[in-house]
Amino acid sequence: MRILDSVNTAIFEGRVAWDAIDVEAARRSPELLALLREACLVESWFPLHMSELTRLLFDDLEATAIFTIEAFEAYGHYYLLRRYLQHVGGDAPTDDEVVALRRSGRGEAPTDIVRELVNFMGTELFAADFFETIGARSEEPELSRMLSRFAREELVHSDFAKGLLQRMVASDPEVVRRVEEAALGFEHLGSYVLPSLSNAKRDNIALIQRFSRAIAEITGRPLSDAILAEQPGDPDDS
Ligand SMILES: [Fe+2]
Repeated sequence: MRILDSVNTAIFEGRVAWDAIDVEAARRSPELLALLREACLVESWFPLHMSELTRLLFDDLEATAIFTIEAFEAYGHYYLLRRYLQHVGGDAPTDDEVVALRRSGRGEAPTDIVRELVNFMGTELFAADFFETIGARSEEPELSRMLSRFAREELVHSDFAKGLLQRMVASDPEVVRRVEEAALGFEHLGSYVLPSLSNAKRDNIALIQRFSRAIAEITGRPLSDAILAEQPGDPDDS
């Protein structure tokens, strides 16, 4: 066994009771397996994106620790989702697909750390909800268990990004405007590498409200204030 295989096994394999997986139950929900395949692809790219963010904040010990933890846990999600799909006979991403995804990325390194942290914070909120929703819909109990752990980790990752942004606002109030601009132009990080993303459920209103509340916790004012400030003035005012 290659050394990487044995380390992957030592770290991750024990997190899932492979023999307890109800393969038939898993295969009864191909639409959920397709969603997991998409998540697996996005997670496969996350550690690379974190290394780009690390370059932007290389002398910030808290930020680089956060990016390192995020990269490791995203790698764990990718590894276990792929192993799960292989185990139940789903359409697991291949090595070639993972490499192709990396090459299909934007090709330009990010430069605006505030925008990247807002996108990161929101994406992790969406990811937590995505995993929670699939876990709740799954008839296969081991998958539900695995995804509820992923969801908890994603919430921590989102809070990590929120904490970094709150610290930036505390040292420079001008960051508030940049956070709001980024929130209004929010891009899911998955859209950096995939042409389209699937929703785990139809109605994402509650999730969008949750994102707006998180933004308000950073800026100290409702995001609606920023939306109103963007509107053209009342013609009678002139
Ligand atoms: Fe994450």
